[in-house]
Amino acid sequence: MSTRQLKRIGVLTGGGDAPGINAVIRGCVLRAGSLGLDLVGIRRSWLGLMEADAVPLNRGNTHRWLQRGGTELRTRRYNPFDEGTEDAILAGYAKLGLDGLIAIGGDGTLTTSYKFHHLGMTVIGVPKTIDNDIAGTDQTFGFETAVQTACDAIDRLHTTAASHGRILIVEVMGRYAGWIAAYAGIAGEADLVLIPEYPVKLADVLAWAKGLKERGREYAILVVAEGALILNAEGVPLVRGEYTAAGYEKLGGVSVQLSRELMGAGVDSRTTILGHVQRGGTPAAFDRILSLRYGARAAELLAEGVSGVMVSLVNNRMRTAPLAEIAGKRRNFDPEAFDLAWMLSELPEAR
Ligand code: F6P
Repeated sequence: MSTRQLKRIGVLTGGGDAPGINAVIRGCVLRAGSLGLDLVGIRRSWLGLMEADAVPLNRGNTHRWLQRGGTELRTRRYNPFDEGTEDAILAGYAKLGLDGLIAIGGDGTLTTSYKFHHLGMTVIGVPKTIDNDIAGTDQTFGFETAVQTACDAIDRLHTTAASHGRILIVEVMGRYAGWIAAYAGIAGEADLVLIPEYPVKLADVLAWAKGLKERGREYAILVVAEGALILNAEGVPLVRGEYTAAGYEKLGGVSVQLSRELMGAGVDSRTTILGHVQRGGTPAAFDRILSLRYGARAAELLAEGVSGVMVSLVNNRMRTAPLAEIAGKRRNFDPEAFDLAWMLSELPEAR
């Protein structure tokens, strides 16, 4: 805690976007205004901070931002500590005359924020990812919207799957955690959900698929998280991610490979990859409210002289989690906590 009077704070968005970012920013604006703080929006994540690329934000120019998808400040996947630009970013922070920063982002951005906190920056994190896998909070904003989008798609796929007597595979986002797959799959009454937390054997999936008709099922919906681990006879996952030039793992396509395997085993199947449809567009009402709460509390915390924490939701109350404790940690889907263990139990575990 510091007793220094804050005057000017900034907000930036890092990593992939998520529905609700603009509502978080609106929450920051409203609370900063009532606390007498000036707020600037930093464009293009840490890159914008390095270049002191900022725009003043106020009630007027953020009016009606609640319903807007994406991020009006734009975002980048950029890690200053990998690029060796941390000093330039601290210089940008000083040049903008900032007394504090709100960093809206996922694990990468929160870890970066923690490092900057150690270098003397006053920083509060806001947990953002549709994947819902950030430690220290009950829910990230954007998750609810992504689940509804995926559930709507599954609902539509039932009729065409039934008409053809096929297995339809729906691939959803979820690199290392299966929250979207599990929630959308359960709500959409999928027959099987495959998530990264529970590796399965390909042979077991094929046996399950071949036995469907015998078990009186006309068709099936199989939901697979992009990061699901489906292991071949050698214990090797069906697909691995590709790496971008910046060393970022890009997933997607496990469903295509799985469908190939099913077809090869004589089971008619098709694939739908939802991809970025889950991230784009208008946030659900729940995400707008959660985002507003996160944004407002983040601004308040800065005004209270707090740094090095993430705002979090615990038992529907705004709390904080130290960045030191949550950086680099992941919150996995825990079926038992939801009394839903049965949903993932159609297959034996490969572990
Ligand atoms: O933000 C998380 C996430 O949506 C992951 O589920 C997905 O793997 C990744 O982002 C995709 O990111 P990008 O749009 O940079 O390829």
